[in-house]
Amino acid sequence: MPEDIPGEVLVMGAGTIGCFIGGSLAAAGVPVTFVGRPRVLDKLATHGLTLTDIDGNKLKLPAARLQLSEQVPPGAQPALVLLCVKSGATAEAAAELAFALPAGTTVVSLQNGISNCAAASLAGPSLNVRAGMVPYNVAEIGQGAFHRGTPGRLAAEDDAALRPWLDVFARAGVPLDLHADLVPVQWGKLMLNLNNPVNALSGLPLRDELMQRGYRRCFASLIEEALSILNVAGITPAQVAAVPAHRLPGLLRLPDWLFRIVAARMLRVDAKARSSMADDLALGRRTEIDSLSGEVVRLAQEHGLSAPRNARMVALLEAWPQSPRRWTARQLQDALGL
Ligand SMILES: NC(=O)c1ccc[n+]([C@@H]2O[C@H](COP(=O)([O-])OP(=O)(O)OC[C@H]3O[C@@H](n4cnc5c(N)ncnc54)[C@H](OP(=O)(O)O)[C@@H]3O)[C@@H](O)[C@H]2O)c1
Repeated sequence: MPEDIPGEVLVMGAGTIGCFIGGSLAAAGVPVTFVGRPRVLDKLATHGLTLTDIDGNKLKLPAARLQLSEQVPPGAQPALVLLCVKSGATAEAAAELAFALPAGTTVVSLQNGISNCAAASLAGPSLNVRAGMVPYNVAEIGQGAFHRGTPGRLAAEDDAALRPWLDVFARAGVPLDLHADLVPVQWGKLMLNLNNPVNALSGLPLRDELMQRGYRRCFASLIEEALSILNVAGITPAQVAAVPAHRLPGLLRLPDWLFRIVAARMLRVDAKARSSMADDLALGRRTEIDSLSGEVVRLAQEHGLSAPRNARMVALLEAWPQSPRRWTARQLQDALGL
């Protein structure tokens, strides 16, 4: 192990994000253990890991270089754990980590939403859990092949245990910034994630969906509702995309021809990229809607307000498995009262 690497990394939840970020670190010489399900580990054991990105980079890690495990290995002492399970699996994963790892082990939640860090701390009180944020979209594009389809830098809550990792993450091509308060950054990301349910219900790749003004109007109305509640709550979402959150609704409502010109950077998305919520629906898995629109609804309730459009999205996603269908932009606008 190169001298400047602070220790071993354990990826808890070797899925799309875990394989991409853990794989990038492993390719940079960090000893990484991938804890995951046989469905994913078998593919990695057969095909190794291939990582590509929108900037044209390509990395290949042969299977022989990957440490794969279905459980947290007994006696493991990672210097850093990357918690990469979906929100619904957070408590169980954190409890497993707390059971198997030394007290005080640093865990960064690389999950969407606002409450995963708190949920992991509650289920694994002996762990040093820090919130994190992944700004980009990663998709599984083949057997053991993962592709980062949008740009951005990782973010995490500042902690002394994370500072020695900054150079290593930068060298690995997954630069990480530390923030004294990650909550505005998490809400900034959540504003962008409010497109996930729109994208999932549209059944379209992200770029095709974003090129239809009707879907963008739905996305804009969800952001606007969330912003009005954040305003009452005294939270200013950080800028995570090329445009600050408060300017997004106006931009999204532009006519298609103008949006295509003005939002060229926003549309710097691979032609096939979809939200992982779309994949969850397709595979009959539980979605993270409760950690996205659900967070907006809860924040509204905490302040004696309501968030009817985000509440409607929660209801539509929860009802989807009983009546799966593709929503046209018009149908979705009608459902949101637009
Ligand atoms: N994908 C993206 O582009 C993206 C971007 C930014 C942020 N995120 C966030 O990153 C988080 C992870 O997303 P993802 O897309 O990487 O999810 P994912 O592909 O479903 O990966 C999570 C993996 O963890 C496994 N897992 C769950 N509990 C486990 C446990 N106790 N032990 C071992 N493995 C376990 C899951 O298996 P089972 O499902 O079979 O249990 C799944 O294979 C989410 O919060 C997501 O919102 C994703």
